[in-house]
Amino acid sequence: MRMLITGTPGTGKSSVAKEICRRKGWPLLSLREIAEKHKCIIRKEGKERIVDVQKLKKAALRELKGKKNAVVEGHLGCEFSLPVDFVFVLRAHPSELRKRMRKRRYPARKIEENLMAEMLDYCSQVSARHYHVPILEADTTKRTAGQTAARLLSYLEKKVKKLDKVDWSPELRKKTLRNIRIASL
Ligand SMILES: Nc1ncnc2c1ncn2[C@@H]1O[C@H](COP(=O)(O)OP(=O)(O)O)[C@@H](O)[C@H]1O
Ligand SMILES: [Mg+2]
Repeated sequence: MRMLITGTPGTGKSSVAKEICRRKGWPLLSLREIAEKHKCIIRKEGKERIVDVQKLKKAALRELKGKKNAVVEGHLGCEFSLPVDFVFVLRAHPSELRKRMRKRRYPARKIEENLMAEMLDYCSQVSARHYHVPILEADTTKRTAGQTAARLLSYLEKKVKKLDKVDWSPELRKKTLRNIRIASL
């Protein structure tokens, strides 16, 4: 069993992946760690890392080689295709995501950028372009990382038939209307 866990930063990828690997004894491949180990970071801008995505893909392929089981986690995982059996896209309601990112002291610009990506289903859309295996969304808003890990495993063990279909378009609409009002002032 190989899987990719992707999603907007703050949706809980690292926590959920760690929990799945702890429960199953599978190797955890963090794309952030792979990027550092294989020197895929072009430069750093404050806390942000600008990554050579093609180099990261090659490094991830090398790390996956010979591994029957693996959990790959990282938001950049949706940007290329990896040999996995399932893709899980973790989601979170924009207000919850904002709280999580504030707690992590993300810069305001980065918070807005990530919230927009989440509202536009960016990781789901881009995953669909690169992966031809089942792509499942899981809403983490009202769940702990342990609960989400358990749900993903239940899905894989066919104990539950479906996960979630999220739609933050009402939030996007609210934000757009707010912006229009501001622009017309
Ligand atoms: N399901 C969850 N519910 C509430 N908080 C969570 C959940 N999953 C993760 N968190 C918290 O949100 C933050 C981001 O989690 P993390 O796993 O690092 O996300 P990611 O790897 O997607 O950026 C952490 O502070 C973590 O403790
Ligand atoms: Mg992470």
